[in-house]
Amino acid sequence: SAENRRLIASLIRDIPDFPQQGVGFKDITPLLGSAEGFRATVDELVAAAPPAIDVVVGMEARGFIVGAPVAVALGAGFVPVRKPGKLPAATYEVSYDLEYGSETLTIHTDAIKPGSRVLVVDDVLATGGTLAATAELIRRLGAELVHVAVVMELAFLEPHRRLAEAGLGETAITALVTVEG
Ligand code: PRP
Ligand code: MG
Repeated sequence: SAENRRLIASLIRDIPDFPQQGVGFKDITPLLGSAEGFRATVDELVAAAPPAIDVVVGMEARGFIVGAPVAVALGAGFVPVRKPGKLPAATYEVSYDLEYGSETLTIHTDAIKPGSRVLVVDDVLATGGTLAATAELIRRLGAELVHVAVVMELAFLEPHRRLAEAGLGETAITALVTVEG
């Protein structure tokens, strides 16, 4: 609802110059710490999901916090995408470029049955690098990414441009809050 989304937006805090000078950090901890705010967040992410989701995929670390309750509410399983060296069984790995250096994300090769309908949940869509790598991991498992639901999109970083370049221009994405600048 519009009321939920107003509440959610009001509980996201701006922290100037974090983690470095000139960067304005969007801090969701006040939102998570509010019983009404966290409930509204989960309700809105669940409402964004198409029918018959088999699995929710969440990305370490903040995607775990918002993805897990959404999975339970949908009656779906939860599959973690993790940073390297954390998953104990065989994994697929995808690396992507950051502004400085690179990041790698991993998933268990047997985490999702081929053909499963997957919802990806994360807190923030920024440059789109994390989502593009996660989509590639899901593709390698032969599963179907049917929807992406995030709390917040940083539109000024133009994630849709990067996602289109990654062949994800048609992927349905819901952002509860859009930050323009
Ligand atoms: C943050 C955020 C998203 C990602 C979005 O994760 O939680 O997962 O960045 O950025 P992108 O669209 O540019 O890839 P990060 O790895 O910084 O930290 P976390 O472990 O706290 O989730
Ligand atoms: Mg993250």
